[in-house]
Amino acid sequence: MALLIRNGEIVTANTRFNGDIYIEDEIITRLGRDLEAPPGTEVIDASGKYVFPGFIDPHVHVYLPFMATFAKDTHETASIAALMGGTTTFIEMCCPSRNDDALEGYQLWKSKAEGHSACDYSFHMSVTKFEQNTPGQLREIVKDGISSFKIFLSYKNFFGVDDAEMFQTLTLARELGVLTTAHCENAELVGRLQQRLLAEDKIGPEWHEPSRPESVEAEGTARFATFLENTGAAGYVVHLSCEPALQAALTAKWRGVRLAIESVIPHFLLDKTYAERSGVEGMKYVMSPPLREKRNQRALWDALANGSIDTVGTDHCPFDVEQKRLGKDAFTQIPNGIPGIEERVQLLYTYGFSRGPLDLYRFVDAASTRAAKLFGLFPRKGTIAEGSDADLVIYDPAYRGMLSAKTHHGNNDYCGFEGFVVEGRPSVVTVRGKVQVRDGQFVGERGRGRMLKREPFHFR
Ligand code: URP
Ligand code: ZN
Ligand code: ZN
Repeated sequence: MALLIRNGEIVTANTRFNGDIYIEDEIITRLGRDLEAPPGTEVIDASGKYVFPGFIDPHVHVYLPFMATFAKDTHETASIAALMGGTTTFIEMCCPSRNDDALEGYQLWKSKAEGHSACDYSFHMSVTKFEQNTPGQLREIVKDGISSFKIFLSYKNFFGVDDAEMFQTLTLARELGVLTTAHCENAELVGRLQQRLLAEDKIGPEWHEPSRPESVEAEGTARFATFLENTGAAGYVVHLSCEPALQAALTAKWRGVRLAIESVIPHFLLDKTYAERSGVEGMKYVMSPPLREKRNQRALWDALANGSIDTVGTDHCPFDVEQKRLGKDAFTQIPNGIPGIEERVQLLYTYGFSRGPLDLYRFVDAASTRAAKLFGLFPRKGTIAEGSDADLVIYDPAYRGMLSAKTHHGNNDYCGFEGFVVEGRPSVVTVRGKVQVRDGQFVGERGRGRMLKREPFHFR
């Protein structure tokens, strides 16, 4: 059935106008004013509301065996939570460990998502070792529609690669036109500092940050950039958390390294005092890189506002309270991660745009358009244009609410942003022209999401 969205304020990363959007066969076919609704067309009145392109979360974990347990979401729960928050596409980290076969891992991750996601999705393919058969396997995965890799410089012996493996991965990525995303922390330093703290009987979650200080992340970021420079590959730093790492990334960009920067919503709004709360309350906030001193947030917001930080993701990675307690005797055993897939857009709108330094264009760019461009989804995703997929968020700016685990949709028993006030909410969300959320309720088709095939390209 055709759909006409009338009288909304349509906002993209570079335009803003009042008008109508006509959708047929999953695609936006007309934009204009006073468009006709042929018989049988569903009409939605968006007066007083914004219409944004569907938001894209470039960094989530859904299926994830990690730290002796599994992240809690399924593709059904994560995608419904995503849609409730206005995210219509996510890119999941496909993370087989060093002990797993990469191709088998890729097939496994695909099978977990297929037929279960209510929104569209893709994967970044993690390269967690580099063996003789790795190039052949990666070429096959790229041919299947995956145009980004992921490497971890931390999590030694599990996901982590050494410098030789990083060099080999980036050399191949350069040849294939694949963008390599990287978790940048020095694995050796993290391991040594963890052991030293534990030996001093410093076992609580408040010691997680001192075990991975800002300098450890800055070193990883600078090293990744140096390897990009010397291989000619293009890179993307994930979940950047602090000013020294930002400086390292910007210094590299200024000397011509092809590097994009992501930060994630927790680092803009939460600080290390959350992880210093006692017992499991602190454990809920253990993630890597860790929550930092509050002073870093100013630098992150400024860099986001001026576009030096390209994207805001979540690093959605839900472990429940029982799982967090696995680390009650040693902070090194606390499963790392925090959920956020549902909360990201409302938080960024409220604290980035409404009360913060972003204009509405940069808000759309950081939460949707820039990720679409970097990861080969634009203009199919990330904008509102004739010919684009009809992934749309009708956002009601008049709504006022509060985030809570009592009302969220992810499969987790806590919300990292419990009690945060939010302004506005997605009242209607469409995925390829089908209404999946209406009046803040999921009303959609559970298995509607499709895996998006992405072509390699050479980001400049
Ligand atoms: O703490 C985090 N970030 N957990 C998920 C794994 C990762 O490093 O992205
Ligand atoms: Zn990471
Ligand atoms: Zn992650």
